[in-house]
Amino acid sequence: MGNIARHVAIIMDGNGRWAQERGLKRVKGHERGAEAVRSITTFASNHPEIEVLTLYAFSTENWKRPKMEVDFLMKLLNRYLKNETQTYLKHKIRFETVGDLSRFSPALREQIEKMKSLTKNFTRLTQVLALNYGSQDEIARAARKLCDQKREITVETLGESIESAPFGPVDILIRTGGDQRLSNFLLWQCAYAELFFTPTLWPDFNPDELDSIISQFKRRVRRFGGI
Ligand code: FPP
Repeated sequence: MGNIARHVAIIMDGNGRWAQERGLKRVKGHERGAEAVRSITTFASNHPEIEVLTLYAFSTENWKRPKMEVDFLMKLLNRYLKNETQTYLKHKIRFETVGDLSRFSPALREQIEKMKSLTKNFTRLTQVLALNYGSQDEIARAARKLCDQKREITVETLGESIESAPFGPVDILIRTGGDQRLSNFLLWQCAYAELFFTPTLWPDFNPDELDSIISQFKRRVRRFGGI
């Protein structure tokens, strides 16, 4: 038995290094990264416990990258959603997002909305892509909303008002690529998450490694502040 891995969240880091190590352009790493997204999502949809898989695909800081890389990531995302429609339908995966989509092109937003409405009734797995997402901003926006509504700010009201509320607390947070930081990702939902840092670069991360992390998670003692 042990702990239940209901919500798994991943900071997908290391695409650029994966490519550079092979003498390839950084964008090739993102391309391979998209393949890892597909295999991890498919694995999660067949896992008996995982209900939500949240992936950090584009942070509010990623706009600082060279325009060519940002443009490539946008195109890759659009292409991924188009090409993978069958994967979502076949494995009954609901597609959702967190983050401010207003800065993305109308074409990409349209593709995102199309995928959301096409998959909205699926319940086997919800895949949440964090796009132009920053957690401090998410918390500040929720606090502002409560103030505007003249409501009290408590852990409960804030927790219900943040954008990621529907997806619930994170059980397992994984960061690939060797760094050990949270980078403004799901800070509220990770309050009691078990953290796993792996040196594996994201394009090399595979279902076997996720499975082994889940096994370690099951053996960890989660006290949630108790004894
Ligand atoms: C971090 O690697 C990765 C990103 C900033 C983007 C994540 C994008 C993908 C995994 C591919 C596309 C996603 C989808 C959902 C199709 P990095 O570039 O920061 O790597 P580095 O630290 O080695 O430079």
